Amino acid sequence: MARVLVGVSGGIAAYKTLEAVRLAIKTGHAVRVIQTPTSERFVGRASFAAITGAPVLGGEFEPDPARGAYPGEPVPDRAPISHLALVERAEAYLIAPASANTLAKLAHGFADNLLTAAALAAPCPVAVAPAMNQRMYRHPATQANLARLEQRGVRIVPPGEGDLASHGEYGIGRLAEPAELLEACEALLRPPTWAGLRVLVSAGGTREPIDTVRYIGNRSSGKMAFALAREAARRGAEVTVVAAATTGTPPPQARLVRVQTAAELARACEREFERCDVLLMAAAVADFRPAKPAAAKLKKEHGVPVLELEPTDDVLGALVARRRRDQVMVGFAAEHGAGAVESGRGKMARKRLDAIVVNDISRPGIGFDADENLVTILSRTGAERRVEQSSKAQVARAVLDEVERLRREPREEADGARMGARSTAGV
Ligand code: CTP
Repeated sequence: MARVLVGVSGGIAAYKTLEAVRLAIKTGHAVRVIQTPTSERFVGRASFAAITGAPVLGGEFEPDPARGAYPGEPVPDRAPISHLALVERAEAYLIAPASANTLAKLAHGFADNLLTAAALAAPCPVAVAPAMNQRMYRHPATQANLARLEQRGVRIVPPGEGDLASHGEYGIGRLAEPAELLEACEALLRPPTWAGLRVLVSAGGTREPIDTVRYIGNRSSGKMAFALAREAARRGAEVTVVAAATTGTPPPQARLVRVQTAAELARACEREFERCDVLLMAAAVADFRPAKPAAAKLKKEHGVPVLELEPTDDVLGALVARRRRDQVMVGFAAEHGAGAVESGRGKMARKRLDAIVVNDISRPGIGFDADENLVTILSRTGAERRVEQSSKAQVARAVLDEVERLRREPREEADGARMGARSTAGV
């Protein structure tokens, strides 16, 4: 199977990593382990060595008795020149538990021990599984470090909620369970199934000018759209993001087209639409705009202006009207309060979408500008999947999983939409 490198940093949860390593070996993977000096205070090297059947490394200057070989491989005649031989040959690198300190070092590119140096040198995908006290986990510094790693393409295996190591304390910060750690490794090892697929994502909130200075905007940050773009790129797709105003950081792997107004967004999406296989319409597009924006800055001395609004075009509606059968069209609906899902279902049918992602914006801590979301994904097949409150990266995974399912079930008929045949790539 695969060569998996596991990095263990300091945390009482290291005992769970032992079990995860055991499961990985049972699945057929060859596992080697690197430990930080602090982690050895929690689980000794002997335990990991016994389970993997290979020596455990702890420092850059320590010779590897197995000379960079993974279990099942012959030990080479010569010792490798580099202390990074293990990571250079790894197919996946899982760091679990990842302490707050190790996360901070990884986020800033430190290489002060073998585990962090290996992360910098890793030619393979990397996952980190944080585990710490909930106050440390929730601290903005830790959250910023996780966001930074995620932007760089590192997969975060989110911690669970429950009893924490400190007596009587309950909260978020428990290391993911061994089966979840194994699943994260497996996900890293999966081939990029979206290779050859072109994904168009619209992001952010449009701004409709009142005059040359002021505008009507909305609270969309673009974070959800960027998470979708990042995940699509991670699955191997070629991604274009048409972005209106955003506060999040766009993924470097995507081609970025910047726009301001709903009309500009419509033009950019129309240009890109023909060649896309999947449309993820996450932008918050203004429904109304000032009918006559002033050509200069409005002055107070001229009195309080009365704004006349006019409707904008329905961008998604226009794209649906010219869709091909093989294209998957996903809309997003921010709905308020009770009946959000029902209202989203109506929207999906009216707009003739393949799926719609509904979030209830009346709930605090999710949605606009937040790092987390809680959504229900509805699809034309009748499926209804609720994704409990989790990071936007996780929500993005669930949305893309639904797209994969939809691509396996092509539309029977597209209600008057254009039906040009086209071969489907990937997925
Ligand atoms: N959308 C669009 N063009 C618009 C408005 C919305 O393409 N002028 C898209 C959004 O990007 C989203 C979907 O339509 O994917 C649903 O957006 P929403 O604003 O909820 O839909 P509306 O039809 O405008 O419904 P509402 O009256 O509830 O705002």
